[in-house]
Amino acid sequence: MTKIAVFGAGTWGIALARLLAANGRDVTVWSAIPAELKSLSTTHRHPNLPGMELPAAMHYTADIAEACTGRDILLFAVPSPFVRATAKKAAPHIPEGQLIVDVAKGVEDKTLMTMSEIIEDELAKAGRKARVVALSGPTHAEEVARDMPTAIVAASADEDAAKAVQKVFTTPTFRVYTNDDRRGTELGGAVKNVIALAVGIALGLGYGDNAKAALITRGNAELSRLGIAMGCKAETFAGLSGMGDLIVTCTSMHSRNLHAGMLIGRGKSVEEAKTEVGQVVEGINALPAACRLAKQYKVEMPIVQAVEAILDGKLEARSALMALMGRSLKRE
Ligand SMILES: NC(=O)c1ccc[n+]([C@@H]2O[C@H](COP(=O)([O-])OP(=O)(O)OC[C@H]3O[C@@H](n4cnc5c(N)ncnc54)[C@H](O)[C@@H]3O)[C@@H](O)[C@H]2O)c1
Repeated sequence: MTKIAVFGAGTWGIALARLLAANGRDVTVWSAIPAELKSLSTTHRHPNLPGMELPAAMHYTADIAEACTGRDILLFAVPSPFVRATAKKAAPHIPEGQLIVDVAKGVEDKTLMTMSEIIEDELAKAGRKARVVALSGPTHAEEVARDMPTAIVAASADEDAAKAVQKVFTTPTFRVYTNDDRRGTELGGAVKNVIALAVGIALGLGYGDNAKAALITRGNAELSRLGIAMGCKAETFAGLSGMGDLIVTCTSMHSRNLHAGMLIGRGKSVEEAKTEVGQVVEGINALPAACRLAKQYKVEMPIVQAVEAILDGKLEARSALMALMGRSLKRE
């Protein structure tokens, strides 16, 4: 039986843990917060996934060495700010050549590394090498927790690794594609959260579907420009982890980034919005890195920069969005 350890007991880690366990995988959940493990193992429920019941056969551990030992796959599902520390803690216990899957979405501000690159970096410091696959796409945990049809992409230049992940994660309701553009896939997963903040802000200001569609489409143009400048493939940004994830994040009632943006558009501060959302808002975490990447690769990202100006308090939300409308006229 395929043995998988899931790092992180947030909504995405637990939704995937349930999916895997319900489809015959041997699943162990590790969390940095022992109280979460106690609650999950006794109630078999997650507070943010109402209606979902966890299979009794799942295992839980607070011991990272135990979680790393004897697994076919290690699944990193902690929010982006905790990926480096978790990888560092796990690295000495991870066997050489281990297959690792990352589902956290973000780019680290200081290093501009994606989450998979951070995991590789921490493993290299411990003298290890692993096969790290990014698994990303339009996938709300709330729907996966209810076995609602979902498609996602396993991305790695190592085709065998991507195919192995595809095989293990595919279920009748969870369809996994592969691609070889991990960086582009991860970039899409990070930048779309910033675009979702912009859409949320527009909706919070009272603008409508036209503004939403324009921001999604032009947001994808910004993302594609940046990705191509960074050597990623154009088609990645038209795929599940690009346009697909933009659509779901910018339109779904489950999206925390959209929700946070709406609160900011209605006049709440960034801190108030984060508190009200109550879970990780990755767009706010990814924003500084997205702006630095735009500068480094000399790419115009006016929507991302407008979000930065609003969140930094340099421009009032309405003025920042109207400034987008007043930019010099261009060919699409
Ligand atoms: N929720 C989704 O639908 C979804 C879908 C796709 C990708 N993702 C991505 O997956 C990642 C996790 O998202 P989530 O929704 O599970 O977030 P979440 O806010 O639900 O995660 C909270 C969890 O993070 C873990 N955590 C908290 N502090 C920690 C620490 N100091 N060290 C290690 N772990 C700690 C805990 O297990 C906690 O339960 C994010 O990068 C997100 O973008 C989420």
